[in-house]
Amino acid sequence: MNDDARVAGQYEEIGGAYERFKSLPVSRCVEQPSILGLFGDLHGRSVLDLACGTGFYARHARALGASRVLGVDVSEAMLGYARNVEARQAAGIEYLAADAAALPASLGAFDVVTAVFLLNYAADQEQMTAFFRSARRHLAADGVFLAYVMNPDFAFERPWPAKYGLEIAVERRLPDGVQASATADFDPPMTLRGFVPARRVYEAAAAAAGFGALQWVPVRAEGGTDGEFPAGFWDDLLSNPPWTMLRARPAAPDGEALQQGPHGRGRRASASVPSVPAGPSPG
Ligand SMILES: C[S@@+](CC[C@H](N)C(=O)[O-])C[C@H]1O[C@@H](n2cnc3c(N)ncnc32)[C@H](O)[C@@H]1O
Repeated sequence: MNDDARVAGQYEEIGGAYERFKSLPVSRCVEQPSILGLFGDLHGRSVLDLACGTGFYARHARALGASRVLGVDVSEAMLGYARNVEARQAAGIEYLAADAAALPASLGAFDVVTAVFLLNYAADQEQMTAFFRSARRHLAADGVFLAYVMNPDFAFERPWPAKYGLEIAVERRLPDGVQASATADFDPPMTLRGFVPARRVYEAAAAAAGFGALQWVPVRAEGGTDGEFPAGFWDDLLSNPPWTMLRARPAAPDGEALQQGPHGRGRRASASVPSVPAGPSPG
């Protein structure tokens, strides 16, 4: 098995054990508040969650008011966990086993397409473009694509404090980025592998797929005020964040991005949209 296949196949072995990562402080205090802030109010919105895994964010999307949620993942083991949760606590979430780069056309158009840690499974430019094309093809004209990814600008060479309980390392250099691993200090430790492509790979994919300019949205940290962590605990992470977020809207026919309210129905804006911090009401 080559390295790319090992990265792609890892979730068949990990399966539901992946949910343990959601209990890590970096997930509870950085990933989850950042992503839920990016999602914002989903009332009445249809959501397609690409790489839904165990359904963690599909369930959150439903809790945030989404009228319909379809979770798609290539791993039967991950979907097995998601379907078990749905069988025990029916939330009306649909799940589909499929490669996010090759979705059936019949799925229709969604108001919001989400991808939490999908784009880090693009081994090259071609696959990244295929992921963005899938998202675009299943997005309403006034919809929004929201993603959480490894930060292309993360400085791997800088010291990374052990206090976060997650070791992040370069495994190999690639022409357009790196392959990296994140190892949680569970007993025994658990490692996830993925690709960290350069920004230009995302930007070229977004443009080729028919999106307007990508917005890079920084993560935020919540925690430390309730006594669980001391003040300033997250400063090291925020000065070299391992993750970042993306927001992309379909390009208007004249090449401008459609600038919307939280998740759609808006006016045209300049294609060059500056990065803005994540907030409870993304716009
Ligand atoms: C780190 S997990 C993230 C799961 C979920 N989004 C979350 O954050 O809880 C990455 C997921 O991407 C899925 N994945 C990787 N490549 C994929 C592809 N080409 N199509 C669909 N899912 C894919 C894996 O099976 C795995 O469930």
